[in-house]
Amino acid sequence: MTDLTFRDATPADIPALHQLIESAYRGEASRAGWTTEADLLAGQRTDPEDLADILADPAQALLTAWRGEALIGCILIADQGQGTGYFGMLSVSPTLQGAGLGRRLVEAAHDALRDRFDARRVRISAFPQRETLLAWYERLGYRLTGETLPFPYGNPRFGLPLRDDLHFVVMERPLA
Ligand SMILES: CC(C)(COP(=O)(O)OP(=O)(O)OC[C@H]1O[C@@H](n2cnc3c(N)ncnc32)[C@H](O)[C@@H]1OP(=O)(O)O)[C@@H](O)C(=O)NCCC(=O)NCCS
Repeated sequence: MTDLTFRDATPADIPALHQLIESAYRGEASRAGWTTEADLLAGQRTDPEDLADILADPAQALLTAWRGEALIGCILIADQGQGTGYFGMLSVSPTLQGAGLGRRLVEAAHDALRDRFDARRVRISAFPQRETLLAWYERLGYRLTGETLPFPYGNPRFGLPLRDDLHFVVMERPLA
């Protein structure tokens, strides 16, 4: 994919970010992509208030990818302290997936975590049911740590679960 520009998100980008993230993660629109949470969760993935909190936090940032005026990808980075970085909210427009943008966003996140937060390792979390996604993260150098994290049942800000056994597995990789 060519003619892309990358930059940090600003508050003016929140409506476009919200639309992109929801379209990638949830609902029928997300099924145009190769991996989605639509079979696991309904409801929202995020909301404008959550995105504003992220942008106001010096320990977090949202990196964005643009084709012309169109926001087509984003990734959240966060400093978890003690040399550990985190990424999440990785989203590519469903109809543009499979062309390498997701990998470029992950590589941009690695560079930013190293440069801004002195991260020496990156941790991520994902649903274990998403086997093709976990396999991709393994190809990106991530390994399961054996740790799990609970899903926040009862808080609709994180979505409406479609099953009662949701939890996250933690993956990690070193940064060179
Ligand atoms: C995850 C996501 C960001 C990937 O974006 P992308 O632009 O498709 O990523 P890339 O094109 O760089 O890479 C896609 C990889 O999936 C593989 N792939 C493509 N179609 C696939 C399919 N149907 N089944 C399995 N793997 C597939 C590609 O071969 C490629 O692997 P490679 O990098 O080893 O060659 C995108 O699918 C997305 O937005 N998903 C919805 C939100 C989400 O689930 N985010 C992650 C939550 S933790």
